[in-house]
Amino acid sequence: MAFSGPVPNDKLYLEQVRYGKDEQKRRKESPIFVSGDEVARLLETNQGVYMVDPRMGFNNRTHRLFVSKHVPTEAEDNKAWKTLGHRHTVEAVIHWLAGKGYSIVDGKRYDWEAGDFICVPIFAWHRHVNLGHEPAIHVASTTGPLYMGIGQAVYEDERYPEYWIYAQQGEDALRTLIPGGVADAAGGDGGSQAARLYAEQVAFAFNEEQRRRESRVLVRGSELRFEPTAMGNVAYVVDSRIGFHIKALSTVVAEIPVGKRSGAHRHLYDEIDYVLSGRGRCIIDDQAFEIKKGDTLAVPVFAWHQYFNTGESPLRILAHSTRPAMENLGLVLTHQGEVADH
Ligand SMILES: [Fe+2]
Ligand SMILES: [Fe+2]
Repeated sequence: MAFSGPVPNDKLYLEQVRYGKDEQKRRKESPIFVSGDEVARLLETNQGVYMVDPRMGFNNRTHRLFVSKHVPTEAEDNKAWKTLGHRHTVEAVIHWLAGKGYSIVDGKRYDWEAGDFICVPIFAWHRHVNLGHEPAIHVASTTGPLYMGIGQAVYEDERYPEYWIYAQQGEDALRTLIPGGVADAAGGDGGSQAARLYAEQVAFAFNEEQRRRESRVLVRGSELRFEPTAMGNVAYVVDSRIGFHIKALSTVVAEIPVGKRSGAHRHLYDEIDYVLSGRGRCIIDDQAFEIKKGDTLAVPVFAWHQYFNTGESPLRILAHSTRPAMENLGLVLTHQGEVADH
Protein backbone atom coordinates (compact mmCIF):
# COMPACT_ATOMS: atom_id res chain seq x y z
CA MET A 1 0.00 0.00 0.00
CA ALA A 2 1.53 3.34 -1.00
CA PHE A 3 0.07 6.77 -0.26
CA SER A 4 1.25 10.20 -1.19
CA GLY A 5 0.49 12.72 1.52
CA PRO A 6 -1.63 12.41 4.69
CA VAL A 7 -4.47 9.83 4.80
CA PRO A 8 -7.69 9.56 6.84
CA ASN A 9 -7.17 7.25 9.82
CA ASP A 10 -9.79 4.67 8.71
CA LYS A 11 -7.42 3.62 5.93
CA LEU A 12 -4.75 2.47 8.37
CA TYR A 13 -6.20 2.05 11.85
CA LEU A 14 -8.30 -1.04 11.20
CA GLU A 15 -5.26 -2.70 9.69
CA GLN A 16 -3.44 -2.12 12.97
CA VAL A 17 -6.31 -3.60 14.94
CA ARG A 18 -6.38 -6.65 12.69
CA TYR A 19 -2.62 -7.14 12.82
CA GLY A 20 -2.51 -9.43 15.86
CA LYS A 21 -5.10 -11.76 14.42
CA ASP A 22 -3.43 -11.79 10.99
CA GLU A 23 -0.12 -12.54 12.65
CA GLN A 24 -1.62 -15.57 14.44
CA LYS A 25 -2.45 -16.95 10.99
CA ARG A 26 1.06 -16.28 9.69
CA ARG A 27 2.54 -18.05 12.76
CA LYS A 28 0.32 -21.03 12.07
CA GLU A 29 1.50 -21.23 8.45
CA SER A 30 5.20 -20.79 9.21
CA PRO A 31 7.46 -23.75 8.40
CA ILE A 32 8.94 -25.40 11.51
CA PHE A 33 11.08 -28.44 10.73
CA VAL A 34 14.35 -28.43 8.76
CA SER A 35 15.89 -31.82 8.01
CA GLY A 36 19.51 -32.27 9.10
CA ASP A 37 20.03 -34.78 6.28
CA GLU A 38 19.17 -32.10 3.71
CA VAL A 39 21.47 -29.61 5.40
CA ALA A 40 24.34 -32.14 5.39
CA ARG A 41 23.80 -32.84 1.70
CA LEU A 42 23.91 -29.13 0.80
CA LEU A 43 26.97 -28.60 2.97
CA GLU A 44 28.95 -31.10 0.88
CA THR A 45 29.03 -28.68 -2.05
CA ASN A 46 28.60 -25.31 -0.32
CA GLN A 47 30.54 -23.24 2.24
CA GLY A 48 27.43 -22.73 4.33
CA VAL A 49 23.71 -23.46 4.55
CA TYR A 50 20.90 -21.37 5.99
CA MET A 51 18.37 -23.41 7.98
CA VAL A 52 16.09 -20.63 9.27
CA ASP A 53 15.71 -17.08 8.00
CA PRO A 54 12.62 -14.93 7.38
CA ARG A 55 13.70 -14.62 3.73
CA MET A 56 13.04 -18.38 3.44
CA GLY A 57 9.40 -18.05 4.53
CA PHE A 58 9.84 -18.54 8.28
CA ASN A 59 7.72 -16.26 10.42
CA ASN A 60 10.70 -15.85 12.77
CA ARG A 61 11.60 -12.15 12.35
CA THR A 62 14.41 -11.63 14.82
CA HIS A 63 17.16 -14.19 14.28
CA ARG A 64 18.44 -16.84 11.93
CA LEU A 65 20.32 -20.14 12.09
CA PHE A 66 22.96 -21.37 9.67
CA VAL A 67 25.97 -23.68 9.41
CA SER A 68 29.32 -22.59 7.98
CA LYS A 69 32.36 -24.52 6.88
CA HIS A 70 35.82 -23.03 7.45
CA VAL A 71 38.54 -24.38 5.22
CA PRO A 72 41.98 -25.13 6.72
CA THR A 73 44.20 -22.06 7.07
CA GLU A 74 46.62 -23.14 4.35
CA ALA A 75 43.78 -23.04 1.83
CA GLU A 76 43.64 -19.95 -0.38
CA ASP A 77 40.27 -18.72 0.93
CA ASN A 78 41.44 -18.11 4.45
CA LYS A 79 44.49 -16.05 3.52
CA ALA A 80 42.15 -13.24 2.54
CA TRP A 81 41.67 -12.38 6.23
CA LYS A 82 44.58 -10.34 7.45
CA THR A 83 43.94 -8.40 10.59
CA LEU A 84 40.40 -7.36 11.28
CA GLY A 85 38.22 -9.98 9.66
CA HIS A 86 34.75 -8.53 9.71
CA ARG A 87 32.18 -7.08 12.06
CA HIS A 88 28.48 -6.43 12.07
CA THR A 89 25.80 -4.56 13.98
CA VAL A 90 24.39 -7.98 14.70
CA GLU A 91 25.02 -10.34 17.62
CA ALA A 92 26.19 -13.90 17.00
CA VAL A 93 26.58 -17.07 19.04
CA ILE A 94 28.66 -19.75 17.37
CA HIS A 95 28.87 -23.41 18.33
CA TRP A 96 31.71 -25.46 16.86
CA LEU A 97 30.48 -28.84 15.65
CA ALA A 98 33.78 -30.02 14.18
CA GLY A 99 37.44 -29.04 13.96
CA LYS A 100 39.80 -26.94 16.04
CA GLY A 101 41.24 -23.47 15.71
CA TYR A 102 40.95 -20.04 17.18
CA SER A 103 38.93 -16.86 16.85
CA ILE A 104 40.19 -13.30 17.17
CA VAL A 105 37.48 -11.15 18.73
CA ASP A 106 38.26 -7.46 19.38
CA GLY A 107 41.95 -8.28 19.01
CA LYS A 108 42.01 -11.12 21.57
CA ARG A 109 42.65 -14.76 20.69
CA TYR A 110 40.35 -17.56 21.88
CA ASP A 111 41.33 -21.16 21.11
CA TRP A 112 38.44 -23.55 20.54
CA GLU A 113 37.65 -27.10 19.56
CA ALA A 114 34.48 -28.99 18.63
CA GLY A 115 31.89 -28.57 21.38
CA ASP A 116 32.94 -25.01 22.34
CA PHE A 117 31.00 -21.76 21.90
CA ILE A 118 32.06 -18.26 20.85
CA CYS A 119 29.90 -15.23 21.62
CA VAL A 120 30.53 -12.37 19.20
CA PRO A 121 29.23 -9.15 20.78
CA ILE A 122 27.69 -6.57 18.49
CA PHE A 123 30.15 -4.75 16.21
CA ALA A 124 33.27 -6.55 17.50
CA TRP A 125 35.84 -7.20 14.77
CA HIS A 126 36.30 -10.97 14.50
CA ARG A 127 37.67 -13.74 12.37
CA HIS A 128 37.94 -17.51 12.71
CA VAL A 129 41.01 -19.56 11.87
CA ASN A 130 40.93 -23.30 11.27
CA LEU A 131 44.08 -24.99 12.61
CA GLY A 132 43.10 -28.50 11.52
CA HIS A 133 43.44 -30.28 8.18
CA GLU A 134 39.70 -30.85 7.78
CA PRO A 135 37.02 -28.19 7.46
CA ALA A 136 35.88 -26.71 10.80
CA ILE A 137 32.12 -26.46 11.00
CA HIS A 138 29.99 -24.22 13.16
CA VAL A 139 26.29 -23.71 13.65
CA ALA A 140 25.45 -20.10 14.45
CA SER A 141 22.56 -17.89 15.30
CA THR A 142 22.67 -14.17 14.60
CA THR A 143 20.21 -11.34 15.08
CA GLY A 144 20.58 -10.21 11.44
CA PRO A 145 16.84 -10.28 10.67
CA LEU A 146 16.02 -8.06 13.66
CA TYR A 147 18.56 -5.41 12.63
CA MET A 148 17.60 -5.62 8.95
CA GLY A 149 13.98 -5.06 10.04
CA ILE A 150 14.91 -1.81 11.78
CA GLY A 151 17.21 -0.68 8.97
CA GLN A 152 20.36 -1.01 11.09
CA ALA A 153 22.14 -4.09 9.77
CA VAL A 154 25.67 -3.10 8.79
CA TYR A 155 28.28 -5.67 7.77
CA GLU A 156 31.85 -4.40 7.40
CA ASP A 157 34.45 -6.74 5.96
CA GLU A 158 38.14 -5.92 5.68
CA ARG A 159 38.16 -7.46 2.22
CA TYR A 160 35.50 -5.02 1.00
CA PRO A 161 36.34 -1.58 2.44
CA GLU A 162 34.25 0.04 -0.29
CA TYR A 163 31.15 -1.03 1.70
CA TRP A 164 32.31 0.31 5.06
CA ILE A 165 29.97 2.80 6.67
CA TYR A 166 31.27 3.46 10.19
CA ALA A 167 34.80 2.09 10.05
CA GLN A 168 37.71 4.40 9.41
CA GLN A 169 40.49 3.50 7.04
CA GLY A 170 43.75 2.63 8.73
CA GLU A 171 44.70 2.22 12.36
CA ASP A 172 41.55 3.61 13.95
CA ALA A 173 39.59 0.69 12.59
CA LEU A 174 41.62 -1.61 14.82
CA ARG A 175 40.79 0.22 17.99
CA THR A 176 37.35 1.70 17.92
CA LEU A 177 33.99 1.85 16.24
CA ILE A 178 33.75 5.58 16.84
CA PRO A 179 34.21 7.52 13.58
CA GLY A 180 37.39 9.49 14.00
CA GLY A 181 38.29 7.52 17.12
CA VAL A 182 36.54 9.80 19.60
CA ALA A 183 37.90 8.97 23.04
CA ASP A 184 35.64 11.04 25.25
CA ALA A 185 32.31 12.80 25.37
CA ALA A 186 32.00 16.39 24.30
CA GLY A 187 32.00 18.33 27.57
CA GLY A 188 29.50 21.12 27.01
CA ASP A 189 28.26 23.07 30.00
CA GLY A 190 28.43 20.36 32.64
CA GLY A 191 26.34 22.39 35.10
CA SER A 192 22.81 21.46 34.02
CA GLN A 193 20.92 18.18 34.04
CA ALA A 194 20.26 18.55 30.32
CA ALA A 195 23.95 19.07 29.60
CA ARG A 196 24.81 15.95 31.58
CA LEU A 197 22.10 13.85 29.92
CA TYR A 198 23.15 14.96 26.47
CA ALA A 199 26.86 14.38 27.14
CA GLU A 200 25.97 10.85 28.24
CA GLN A 201 24.25 10.25 24.90
CA VAL A 202 27.28 11.45 22.99
CA ALA A 203 29.52 9.21 25.09
CA PHE A 204 27.28 6.16 24.80
CA ALA A 205 29.03 4.45 21.89
CA PHE A 206 32.43 4.96 23.49
CA ASN A 207 31.31 3.61 26.88
CA GLU A 208 29.44 0.78 25.24
CA GLU A 209 32.57 -0.28 23.44
CA GLN A 210 34.48 -0.41 26.74
CA ARG A 211 31.75 -2.60 28.22
CA ARG A 212 31.75 -4.81 25.13
CA ARG A 213 35.48 -5.41 25.42
CA GLU A 214 34.97 -6.74 28.96
CA SER A 215 32.46 -9.33 27.76
CA ARG A 216 33.01 -13.04 28.15
CA VAL A 217 33.53 -14.62 24.72
CA LEU A 218 34.48 -18.29 24.98
CA VAL A 219 32.48 -21.09 26.62
CA ARG A 220 33.98 -24.57 26.62
CA GLY A 221 31.63 -27.48 25.95
CA SER A 222 33.22 -29.25 28.92
CA GLU A 223 32.19 -26.33 31.20
CA LEU A 224 28.45 -26.64 30.56
CA ARG A 225 26.67 -27.04 33.87
CA PHE A 226 23.25 -28.66 33.57
CA GLU A 227 20.88 -27.76 36.39
CA PRO A 228 17.27 -28.74 36.99
CA THR A 229 14.50 -26.31 35.97
CA ALA A 230 10.78 -26.67 35.28
CA MET A 231 11.82 -27.26 31.65
CA GLY A 232 14.28 -30.02 32.60
CA ASN A 233 18.09 -29.97 32.83
CA VAL A 234 19.31 -26.74 31.30
CA ALA A 235 22.78 -25.20 30.93
CA TYR A 236 22.86 -21.45 30.32
CA VAL A 237 25.60 -20.86 27.76
CA VAL A 238 25.38 -17.20 26.71
CA ASP A 239 23.21 -14.71 28.55
CA SER A 240 23.61 -11.10 29.63
CA ARG A 241 23.06 -12.19 33.25
CA ILE A 242 26.22 -14.34 33.30
CA GLY A 243 28.84 -11.91 32.04
CA PHE A 244 28.20 -11.58 28.33
CA HIS A 245 27.76 -8.19 26.68
CA ILE A 246 24.79 -9.28 24.64
CA LYS A 247 21.44 -7.52 24.37
CA ALA A 248 19.27 -9.57 22.05
CA LEU A 249 20.37 -13.21 21.95
CA SER A 250 20.34 -15.89 24.62
CA THR A 251 21.63 -19.44 24.25
CA VAL A 252 21.00 -22.52 26.36
CA VAL A 253 21.54 -26.25 25.96
CA ALA A 254 18.85 -28.59 27.29
CA GLU A 255 19.45 -32.27 28.00
CA ILE A 256 16.62 -34.78 28.22
CA PRO A 257 17.56 -38.22 29.61
CA VAL A 258 16.52 -41.45 27.88
CA GLY A 259 12.77 -42.06 28.27
CA LYS A 260 12.11 -38.62 29.79
CA ARG A 261 10.39 -35.42 28.67
CA SER A 262 11.23 -31.73 28.89
CA GLY A 263 8.75 -29.27 30.30
CA ALA A 264 6.26 -27.57 27.97
CA HIS A 265 6.08 -23.82 27.63
CA ARG A 266 5.29 -20.98 25.24
CA HIS A 267 6.56 -17.43 25.02
CA LEU A 268 6.50 -14.20 23.03
CA TYR A 269 10.04 -14.49 21.69
CA ASP A 270 11.45 -16.33 18.71
CA GLU A 271 13.32 -19.56 19.38
CA ILE A 272 15.33 -21.78 17.06
CA ASP A 273 16.35 -25.23 18.30
CA TYR A 274 19.08 -27.43 16.88
CA VAL A 275 19.41 -31.11 17.83
CA LEU A 276 23.00 -31.65 19.00
CA SER A 277 22.66 -35.35 19.80
CA GLY A 278 20.17 -38.15 20.31
CA ARG A 279 16.71 -38.63 18.90
CA GLY A 280 13.18 -37.98 20.02
CA ARG A 281 9.89 -36.31 19.37
CA CYS A 282 9.01 -32.65 19.52
CA ILE A 283 5.46 -31.40 19.95
CA ILE A 284 4.82 -27.86 18.71
CA ASP A 285 1.19 -26.82 19.28
CA ASP A 286 -0.82 -29.48 17.43
CA GLN A 287 2.08 -30.88 15.36
CA ALA A 288 4.56 -33.66 16.19
CA PHE A 289 8.01 -34.05 14.64
CA GLU A 290 10.36 -37.04 14.83
CA ILE A 291 13.79 -35.52 15.33
CA LYS A 292 17.41 -36.59 15.41
CA LYS A 293 20.90 -35.11 15.56
CA GLY A 294 21.32 -32.31 13.00
CA ASP A 295 17.63 -31.37 12.67
CA THR A 296 16.41 -27.83 13.29
CA LEU A 297 13.08 -26.56 14.65
CA ALA A 298 11.91 -22.97 14.27
CA VAL A 299 9.47 -22.52 17.12
CA PRO A 300 6.81 -19.93 16.20
CA VAL A 301 6.11 -17.13 18.68
CA PHE A 302 3.71 -18.27 21.43
CA ALA A 303 3.55 -21.88 20.22
CA TRP A 304 3.63 -24.53 22.97
CA HIS A 305 6.71 -26.75 22.62
CA GLN A 306 7.97 -29.85 24.41
CA TYR A 307 10.60 -32.54 23.78
CA PHE A 308 10.50 -36.30 24.45
CA ASN A 309 13.58 -38.52 24.35
CA THR A 310 12.58 -41.70 22.48
CA GLY A 311 16.16 -42.80 21.72
CA GLU A 312 18.90 -44.69 23.53
CA SER A 313 21.15 -41.75 24.43
CA PRO A 314 20.66 -38.29 25.94
CA LEU A 315 18.75 -35.86 23.72
CA ARG A 316 20.61 -32.54 23.63
CA ILE A 317 18.98 -29.41 22.21
CA LEU A 318 20.84 -26.19 21.46
CA ALA A 319 18.25 -23.43 21.84
CA HIS A 320 18.85 -19.86 20.66
CA SER A 321 16.25 -17.22 21.40
CA THR A 322 15.84 -13.46 21.26
CA ARG A 323 14.26 -13.33 24.72
CA PRO A 324 16.57 -10.52 25.94
CA ALA A 325 15.60 -8.30 22.98
CA MET A 326 11.94 -8.82 23.76
CA GLU A 327 12.49 -8.26 27.49
CA ASN A 328 14.07 -4.90 26.69
CA LEU A 329 10.95 -4.03 24.70
CA GLY A 330 8.73 -5.10 27.59
CA LEU A 331 7.32 -7.93 25.49
CA VAL A 332 7.91 -11.05 27.51
CA LEU A 333 5.17 -13.40 28.60
CA THR A 334 6.09 -17.01 29.33
CA HIS A 335 3.52 -19.64 30.20
CA GLN A 336 4.75 -22.80 31.87
CA GLY A 337 2.74 -25.94 31.11
CA GLU A 338 3.56 -29.51 32.11
CA VAL A 339 6.88 -29.66 33.96
CA ALA A 340 9.77 -31.97 33.10
CA ASP A 341 9.78 -35.45 34.66
CA HIS A 342 13.44 -35.48 35.60
FE1 LIG B 1 30.55 -12.67 11.83
FE1 LIG C 1 11.12 -22.19 24.57
